[in-house]
Amino acid sequence: MKDLQIRGARTNNEALLTWIESIAHLSKPDNIHICDGSQEEYDRLCNQMVDSGTFIRLNEKKRPNSFLSRSDPKDVARVEGRTFVCPIDKSAAGPTNNWVHPAEMKERLEALFDGCMRGRTMYVIPFSMGPLGSPIAHIGVEITDSPYVVVNMRIMTRMGQAALDVLGDRGSFVRCLHSVGTPLSPGQKDVPWPCDPENTFISHFPEERSIYSFGSGYGGNALLGKKCFALRIASVMAKDEGWLAEHMLILGIESPNGEKTYVTGAFPSACGKTNFAMLVPPKGFEGWKVFTVGDDIAWLKPGPDGTLRAINPEAGFFGVAPGTNMKSNPNAMLTLTKNSIFTNVALTDEGDVWWEGMSDEPPAHLIDWKGQDWTPDSGRPAAHPNARFTAPIQQCPTFDPQWDNPDGVPIKAFIFGGRMSKNVPLVFQAYYWSHGVYLAATMGSEATAAAEKGLPPVRRDPMAMLPFCGYNMADYWTHWLNVGRLLPNPPRIFRVNWFRRDENGNFIWPGFGENMRVLKWIVDRVRGQGYGVESPIGYMPRHEDIHWDGLDYDPETFYELMSVDRAESTKEARDHEELFDRFFDRLPKEFIHHRELFKSRLWRSPEVWELARPTF
Ligand code: OXD
Ligand code: MN
Repeated sequence: MKDLQIRGARTNNEALLTWIESIAHLSKPDNIHICDGSQEEYDRLCNQMVDSGTFIRLNEKKRPNSFLSRSDPKDVARVEGRTFVCPIDKSAAGPTNNWVHPAEMKERLEALFDGCMRGRTMYVIPFSMGPLGSPIAHIGVEITDSPYVVVNMRIMTRMGQAALDVLGDRGSFVRCLHSVGTPLSPGQKDVPWPCDPENTFISHFPEERSIYSFGSGYGGNALLGKKCFALRIASVMAKDEGWLAEHMLILGIESPNGEKTYVTGAFPSACGKTNFAMLVPPKGFEGWKVFTVGDDIAWLKPGPDGTLRAINPEAGFFGVAPGTNMKSNPNAMLTLTKNSIFTNVALTDEGDVWWEGMSDEPPAHLIDWKGQDWTPDSGRPAAHPNARFTAPIQQCPTFDPQWDNPDGVPIKAFIFGGRMSKNVPLVFQAYYWSHGVYLAATMGSEATAAAEKGLPPVRRDPMAMLPFCGYNMADYWTHWLNVGRLLPNPPRIFRVNWFRRDENGNFIWPGFGENMRVLKWIVDRVRGQGYGVESPIGYMPRHEDIHWDGLDYDPETFYELMSVDRAESTKEARDHEELFDRFFDRLPKEFIHHRELFKSRLWRSPEVWELARPTF
């Protein structure tokens, strides 16, 4: 290998330098650059990508310091089928993960990585997931040949020299190796979005805390701090070290008398998590405020005072653009007004961005996400349905200054929610911790498209972690049970469902800001101030237990929203058994008993119970 000079930031960390050298030896880049995270470095890379055609600079007046990127149409989303979790023992990965023996996977990957950075610069990105130096945070280093990844990582993490300083000479880090998988021969012109979809592998080696990602430049496949590190690898670290790495938003609710309560929320992808994280309190909630700590991932560690403390390991939002507008999520729209990167949205004639749902009336002419002319009668979407924005969290109007608190924020409630058109009430509370873990583990969500047609199939998505848990899901449930046992006053656990429909298929709960009414009941409950009745599935609010000021909501519809059908629930209990059968020998024994209790309570209840309806 030619003698390569390492440019950019400096480090004396031997382990890091040795790793950089070995990867350079394998992938054979033309240059090596250690990122310092400065604005100058960011601007230089963005300009370079404008020159190479990877970026289009947006109109400076309309969207200052912002860029549009269009991916290869074959590289537009996370690829779960190409994602692998590779511990030595197959059963450690469990039935929900793709598994290949690590030795075999490494052999394949090393062949792919051999010479894969020829003609390119190898960037070394040191980053902190979480506040710099926080006892809850951890350091990672991503090596990549994609400048697009570098600038996105600068928004999504605390990146550069500051992270190297925390790492120091001896600190350890999670190794995140990434390549777009398309080397350049001398004189070969690059394409705007290099990738190798046929050879894409997103592989995790939990025992050595490392990630190898090859062939994709998109989102969670390439920004390795996010799903790969902060969830799949971190969930294994969390199990080994006694904490939780979760697919959860974090928000703070401040009451008019200044009391602040922090909660987390776990929802499967495409259930409006970003909207909920930036909720605008509705009419009737004057003086209440909602603060955003995070919209996607939470790391939680028991604090010295016995509370469970959470940080958002990320520093930005990588949100789905279509459907976001000034009504559905004004705070997201205001976050995106500058310093943002847009991927696979449409370009307006004024040099700004547009996506489906941004305005009621689409513009008369656009350039679509594939770079082609588009008019409203083109008959195809202008933005890809998974088009994304990358934006700094500090630009969010509801940004919580506690986001950077190294001690995290104390969590009082876990909220778990799927998308269910029938039978799952708006909100209910677990009786106690292990019952709550059971409710979270059996959470289901309907496929959105199918829901329109009447009988949607339910996908079980335990804790919304199905694609993100880096080990056997049954061991993960056991870990959750253990964490609660060790906390003197564990957070209370709630299930919610914003997506219930009537027999004509119409949503019966308005959702969005009105979800504040549910949040208030949750806050009241965890503060010991809220009433609720005991039902066969948990504690439920009655109509009078919800704050209705400012909303004219028919009590009859509320009774329907909260009603549960015995026959349907019995089917649900059978479905839980089907889920559990996949985990047989590792299933926590408590779960079998929780299921039996659930069935017995059902058989003592009427055919349809409407506990929210007053009986006296
Ligand atoms: C995401 C997801 O992109 O959950 O956050 O899929
Ligand atoms: Mn997510």
